[in-house]
Amino acid sequence: MSRTEERTQGRTPKAERRRPRTLVPVQERHDAPLAPLTTFRLGGPATRLVTAVTDAEVIDTVREADRAGTPLLIVGGGSNLLISDKGFEGTALRIATTGFDLQGTRLELAAGENWSDAVARTVEAGLAGIECMAGIPGSAGATPIQNVGAYGQEVSSTITEVVAYDRRTEEVVTVPNAECAFSYRHSRFKQHPERYVVLRVRFELEDAEGLSAPIKYAETARTLGVEPGDRVPVAEARRTVLALRAGKGMVLDADDHDTWSAGSFFTNPILDAAAHEAFLARVAERLGADVTPPAYPAGDGHVKTSAAWLIDRAGFTKGYGDGAARISTKHTLALTNRGAATTEDVLALAREVRDGVRDAFGVTLVNEPVTVGVSL
Ligand code: EPU
Repeated sequence: MSRTEERTQGRTPKAERRRPRTLVPVQERHDAPLAPLTTFRLGGPATRLVTAVTDAEVIDTVREADRAGTPLLIVGGGSNLLISDKGFEGTALRIATTGFDLQGTRLELAAGENWSDAVARTVEAGLAGIECMAGIPGSAGATPIQNVGAYGQEVSSTITEVVAYDRRTEEVVTVPNAECAFSYRHSRFKQHPERYVVLRVRFELEDAEGLSAPIKYAETARTLGVEPGDRVPVAEARRTVLALRAGKGMVLDADDHDTWSAGSFFTNPILDAAAHEAFLARVAERLGADVTPPAYPAGDGHVKTSAAWLIDRAGFTKGYGDGAARISTKHTLALTNRGAATTEDVLALAREVRDGVRDAFGVTLVNEPVTVGVSL
């Protein structure tokens, strides 16, 4: 008699019935420090920390916490998190799922895959589409949430669909690109932060016979010695971006405190026509009529300007600060932990920068990293 038959006849041995659904129990710790899980290396302990290595473990943990009404914190690569010094009262769930599946130009990544390693592998396979996002810290599952982008590429251009657990309906849903509501550093998933847990991300890459996608970012084109719109060998595009990022302290290096950060701490402000005009008037008044701040078209008559530029011109130059939290010595947009900083130190610096920029130029910067138990 097969086991199924045994079960249908209600004769499953007791030991068998009691066997847990997953053979390897999820890793679980209590009063676990969260700081080592973040690139800022900041944040107090979580009441409970669960590390999930399969989608089923992720779903079970989320469902259990939701049904019990326990607060839940999802931790991916920890590169975009600023967690309270008091820590997190609830369950912190570290997504450590694995899966890199490349079939032709189709790529599926498990949420827990390291993003930068995945980029390297697609470049090794000679495929184009995500090569300029090399060196971005964090996990693959985080990329659709804030539509991660750098050097002229955004994941929204290559993502075909996102598989996620919907905490409201308790179902796994497949969200096609058109329904992800992607925009600059934003998406449907960020819009409803309590609703979706990303499980898998699917991409359609391009086989351009070993060449990159057209180079869009002026700085990258300049460094490569090509015109914007040109293609270069895909590995060369990746190498160039990695070098540019490293020069700005945007490639993780445990020995370099300029990289103990969450990358860009503020998003680039998007101004409507009236706000842009008012901003230009403030710049002229403060810095002189001949000074032109960076301006990139952002659709609907809106203009995107540079947070790094604003911070710099408001007087917060590279290396600013005399405490344990300072502005990176390589890029004004990164706030950094010099080793002994607390989350409160970073917040105090962030508020000083935000208020200083607002007083100088009338523009209020908004933080890019997700804050947990604290706010700016
Ligand atoms: N600038 C300064 N001082 C600095 C650095 C930059 O004045 O110390 C000015 C310059 O005028 C420069 C301009 O800021 O031309 C833009 O700088 P950069 O090219 O480095 O880009 P960014 O706008 O500061 C954005 C993303 C980065 C991404 C780069 C490259 C945001 C918030 N940041 O930075 O993403 O790597 O473009 O594409 O959109 C991140 O999101 O964490 C991140 C690092």
